[in-house]
Amino acid sequence: MASKKIQIITLFPEMFEGVLGNSMLWKASDRGIAEYSLINLREYGQGPRRQVDDTPYGGGDGMLLMVEPLLKAIEVAKANDPSAKVYLPTPRGELYKQSTAKRIATEEQGMIIICPRYEGYDERITEWVDHQFCIGGYVLTGGELPAMILIDSVVRLLPGVLGGETSTEIESFQQDDENIEFPQYTRPETFQDRAVPPVLLSGNHAAIEKWRSENSQPSVNKG
Ligand code: ADE
Repeated sequence: MASKKIQIITLFPEMFEGVLGNSMLWKASDRGIAEYSLINLREYGQGPRRQVDDTPYGGGDGMLLMVEPLLKAIEVAKANDPSAKVYLPTPRGELYKQSTAKRIATEEQGMIIICPRYEGYDERITEWVDHQFCIGGYVLTGGELPAMILIDSVVRLLPGVLGGETSTEIESFQQDDENIEFPQYTRPETFQDRAVPPVLLSGNHAAIEKWRSENSQPSVNKG
């Protein structure tokens, strides 16, 4: 399978260093399964100060990302990977779910992810966007964290990333509302008088499977 090209358009490329440079996301690129590139939107800004934002028509607080720098950055990314799809995180987007991650991991090739900042962007950019997505019912200061969530949730599903583990195979049979995992335990067997459920020590695989399926429930908060 060809490496999945993931191009990120952002004003804060350094925010991605820790996330893409460690653990499974780093391994995926080290193994040639995913390939990340950061496009600094500032490079496509206008004038000597490389301006990327301006005030909204009609008034209102804050600044909006202008359409021209965004489009130039998208065009550069498209020149690198013409069949890539363009993703835009926005609270107005479709709620992002595991089924979307699976579809992107299995059906789509490259990804170009725009990270908006300030109070938003000129709506005309959406004409060049394939998928607008929202990661939850809250508002963040920018698109970098949603972009990281999109990348992490897709890359972990690519074959070879979680090497040797069957966890993504198990998940592949689940639906969006069935992603709850069962509780797990490791050593010690007893910690501060709290023992591991005895069935997990029984060696009885059928009983363990039954216990796990019965206990795949959302956790309940205290108080
Ligand atoms: N930008 C700001 N908040 C967001 C959210 N919840 N999802 C996607 N993009 C966002």
